[in-house]
Amino acid sequence: MKRRTDEQRERLEQFVFVCTNDRDSEHACCGDVGATETLEAIKSWLRERNAFWSPIGVTTTGCLGLCSEGGTAITIQPRNEWYSDIQPEDVPALLEDEFGPDAEWVGESPADKSRNES
Ligand code: FES
Repeated sequence: MKRRTDEQRERLEQFVFVCTNDRDSEHACCGDVGATETLEAIKSWLRERNAFWSPIGVTTTGCLGLCSEGGTAITIQPRNEWYSDIQPEDVPALLEDEFGPDAEWVGESPADKSRNES
């Protein structure tokens, strides 16, 4: 077993978890409402700003408990931000609001961000 915390702390400031849960059920799940396309939109936005995987990691996850027929659920950690009903076309505005137009707010807390906006 290797502890790699320091290595990851050096590389990653934020992590976007995208629910891609797919289930055979009558209940809504992100896998049925465009999760793959939303995931790709997130990756593309970050790649275009040279922020993909460093400093912002992205991974898929199972159910986040925000299931909706309206779109995909994500969470951004360690900010403790949670969203549901995301469509791929929502991604640029959402990520710009979280990280800044060029992902320049990555290391800022939400409180820092609101101070900068006022
Ligand atoms: S299936 Fe995505 S939040 Fe539940």
